[in-house]
Amino acid sequence: MFNDSLHTMTLSEDGSYTAYSKEYNEHYHSTKDGALYESLVKHVHPAFKLKETQEEINILDICFGLGFNTLATLFYHKQNSLTSKINIYSPELDASLVKSLNSFTYPEEFEEFKHIVEAIVKDGVYKDENFYVEVFLGDAREYVKRFEKKFDVVYQDAFSPSSNPILWTKEYFSDIRRLIKEDGVLTTYSIALATRLALYENEFNIYINSGEGFRKATVASLSKLEEFELVDMPHKISCNPNAASLRD
Ligand SMILES: C[S@@+](CC[C@H](N)C(=O)[O-])C[C@H]1O[C@@H](n2cnc3c(N)ncnc32)[C@H](O)[C@@H]1O
Repeated sequence: MFNDSLHTMTLSEDGSYTAYSKEYNEHYHSTKDGALYESLVKHVHPAFKLKETQEEINILDICFGLGFNTLATLFYHKQNSLTSKINIYSPELDASLVKSLNSFTYPEEFEEFKHIVEAIVKDGVYKDENFYVEVFLGDAREYVKRFEKKFDVVYQDAFSPSSNPILWTKEYFSDIRRLIKEDGVLTTYSIALATRLALYENEFNIYINSGEGFRKATVASLSKLEEFELVDMPHKISCNPNAASLRD
């Protein structure tokens, strides 16, 4: 049984289940956009729009949670018969959550990855000829310090800046800046000006990720991207002179 004193399963509007965290008073996904749909349109699709033809893709998935972003990546890869090698590195503080994932009701799209969830629950790692998935049970802030510039994609999917600010600060994004490649891409559901400022102050260009059936989201890259609409940050800053990034 997945439900315990800290987590309960909740049905989201695309028919997939997400969870509610009693500790953070937040759902793991937007119940309105839908858990699976949100993972796909806010993280996986924008990432692969840019990386579809790359032979090997290194992804940092902050944070693993129920594993939707990781599993939706594998689902997209299989659906589109991609041949790239995918390496996913994902920290997660809540070890008991990860240990309970065999009893979570995943959407049928993830059925074929059941053995991957089982391997992660048991060993924290899964490996085959196409995929490497590593889940680190611990603090993301510590985990990100162990990498040098290697990531093509960062899925920034922590709980909201108001409930988990430590994963949205200028200093945190400075660590992310250090480990993302120049042509790498960061995806996040957050459109808060404070989030965008924290990225912008670390030399990221900020873009809008919009589309049908989901609330606007953010894409960021150290490079110029033609595929997304640029946010005019100097203009935003001049209109909101008191806005500030979060700090450690
Ligand atoms: C919004 S949920 C992630 C949802 C996940 N991406 C998914 O698709 O299911 C945020 C997660 O961050 C984890 N978390 C909170 N603080 C953390 C930290 N300092 N380091 C690692 N994980 C953390 C929480 O336990 C929670 O599982």
